[in-house]
Amino acid sequence: MTESVIVLDQIQKHYGDLKAVKDISLKIEQGEIYGLLGPNGAGKSTTIKMICGVVKPTAGKGYVLGYDVYKNSNEIKNSIGYMSQKFSLYEDLTVMENIVFFANIYGINRLETKERIMQIVEMAGLVGREKQLTKNLSGGWKQRLALGCAIIHKPKLLILDEPTAGVDPVSRRLFWEMLFELSKQGITILVTTHYMDEAQSCDRVGFVFSGTKLTEGTPEGIIESYKAKNLEDVFIQLVERETNTSIRHSFENLKFIRGEAQ
Ligand SMILES: Nc1ncnc2c1ncn2[C@@H]1O[C@H](COP(=O)(O)OP(=O)(O)OP(=O)(O)O)[C@@H](O)[C@H]1O
Ligand SMILES: [Mg+2]
Repeated sequence: MTESVIVLDQIQKHYGDLKAVKDISLKIEQGEIYGLLGPNGAGKSTTIKMICGVVKPTAGKGYVLGYDVYKNSNEIKNSIGYMSQKFSLYEDLTVMENIVFFANIYGINRLETKERIMQIVEMAGLVGREKQLTKNLSGGWKQRLALGCAIIHKPKLLILDEPTAGVDPVSRRLFWEMLFELSKQGITILVTTHYMDEAQSCDRVGFVFSGTKLTEGTPEGIIESYKAKNLEDVFIQLVERETNTSIRHSFENLKFIRGEAQ
């Protein structure tokens, strides 16, 4: 039996009284593209940070590529590729300098670095922009460069926290084409996104709400079981159910806009 790439068993993270993650169990298999979905503040980034070994869980168990999230955070950090929700590149370095910087962090030798740089620049569509300062790249280019930097050490697992936020549809498609190729190579991908078209492209998705996983499955399976038109409808149904409010209702409270007496 092959071991799952990510195993979380009732993982929790508390910040004082706030339970950012209350109880999340998860199993992600090799080569899967798994999408973690849920509203703002649901606990997606906190879960991801525990998986990456950046944040220590309060309780529960977690194994990533066979490493224990409590004891082996350095091994985990060295073996995965991670794009954090906030921009992960150095703005004052050029495209090339950023790639070299990440290659150095991961201890890749000069010969390999040289070989990989050109391949990454090409994959990211950045040929001719090698000397451009990263801060002058548009959002889509930056995210593709960040993905390139995250894979320079050939990680078996890629963790991407909202990698395409604010990126135009063409650049998002290009970014996802890269993810499909990486997945075909057997690389496991855990991604968070608020774009439901992207969620639809995942092998499986999990919906998180208020630190708990509500449901999980293939996009088609979930849509069917919620009798919904698409994942966006499932998302809205779940949030409405959990918060006991309807989206329409929030607008109905705005009486002054609708010209009604206050
Ligand atoms: N370091 C921290 N200290 C205190 N509270 C935190 C910390 N990090 C996160 N939180 C809180 O934990 C909860 C979950 O946050 P998290 O960033 O995991 O949500 P998210 O699902 O990634 O949301 P978004 O979609 O907006 O990125 C939020 O209430 C947040 O304010
Ligand atoms: Mg987040």
